[in-house]
Amino acid sequence: MNLAELYENRNSSQFNDSAAVVDQLKSKLQWQDGETIMDVGCGPGNVTALLLQAIVPHDATIIGVDISSNMVEHAQKKYGNKNLHFCTLDFGSENIRQVFELESFSKIFSFYCLHWIQDQRRSTENVWSLLKPNGAALIVIVVHSPLFTVYRAMSKLEQWQPYMKDVDRFITPYQEVENPCDEYRALLESTGFKVTDCFAKESAVDAPTFDFLKESLNAVNPFLGRMPKNLQAKHMDALMDIVLENHMIRIEEGSEGKLTYIQPNRVVVALCQKIRPSN
Ligand SMILES: C[S@@+](CC[C@H](N)C(=O)[O-])C[C@H]1O[C@@H](n2cnc3c(N)ncnc32)[C@H](O)[C@@H]1O
Repeated sequence: MNLAELYENRNSSQFNDSAAVVDQLKSKLQWQDGETIMDVGCGPGNVTALLLQAIVPHDATIIGVDISSNMVEHAQKKYGNKNLHFCTLDFGSENIRQVFELESFSKIFSFYCLHWIQDQRRSTENVWSLLKPNGAALIVIVVHSPLFTVYRAMSKLEQWQPYMKDVDRFITPYQEVENPCDEYRALLESTGFKVTDCFAKESAVDAPTFDFLKESLNAVNPFLGRMPKNLQAKHMDALMDIVLENHMIRIEEGSEGKLTYIQPNRVVVALCQKIRPSN
C-alpha cells in the first residue's frame, strides 16, 4: 500500500472530525454561483471529494493542493473530475502568488495541514492573498499532540537521531503555547480577517484495535520514509512503547463491550472572512 492509500485507509477519525466541523459551521457559509474553492493539504483527496464536494453548489470548481506529489497523483486518479482537480503546491511558499492568481478563490478550506507550516504568518497571508474579497476560510489546525512530544524524545536517541534531525519542522508551532486559540485568532485578525468562530476541541485518532491505531500513527509518521525498510517496523515499535509507557492512549469500552483505542490531540477550528476593505 503506498502512503496515500495507507493514509486514506486509516484517516477515518480525521474524516469524521472534519465532517463534524463542517456540519457545525456550514450554515455560516454563504454560497453564490460559480464558486471557486481550494482545499489546502488535501492529502489523498477523500475529504475534498466526499465531504466538501457534497456541500458546495453543483457549478463550483474545487482544487485540492498538497505538497506531496504522491498524495496529489492518488487524489487526481481516484477523485479528479471536471469540477475537481488536484495539484502539487507548497502552501508555505513565498511565491504562492506566482502559482495562483491573487484573489481567485471564494472559499478556502484546510483540515489538519496548516500547522505543518512553521511560518504561520506566511501561511495565513497566503490564505488572505488567494481569497477574493468577502471570501471565507475554514481552517482546522493541530495545536497539541502527545505524539509530537514522542517525536522530540526519539529524535534525541542515537538510533533515530540521523532520521529526525529536523524534528521541529514536523511539530506544530503551537505545541507549547498556553492559549493557542487566542494566538491563532490574533494572527488571523492581524492579517486582516474578521474571525467569526475560533475554538479549541479534542480531535482523537481512534481505532478498534491497538494494531489498527499503530497503523494510523504509522500513516502520519513523516520520518519512516527516510529510513531503510528493516528499521521502519522497529521505529514504530519503539514509538508505541513510549506512547504506552507514558499512558498516551485511552482505552474506552463501548456499550456492547467493544474497546476503542484513543490517541487524543487538540485542534483549533477557525472560520474567518476577508471583509472587502471599504474605500
Ligand atoms: C494529516 S494530512 C491531512 C489530509 C486531509 N486534509 C485530511 O483531512 O484528511 C496533512 C496533509 O498536509 C500536507 N502538507 C504538509 N505540509 C504542506 C504544505 N506546506 N503545503 C501543502 N500541503 C502540505 C501533507 O502532505 C498531508 O497530505
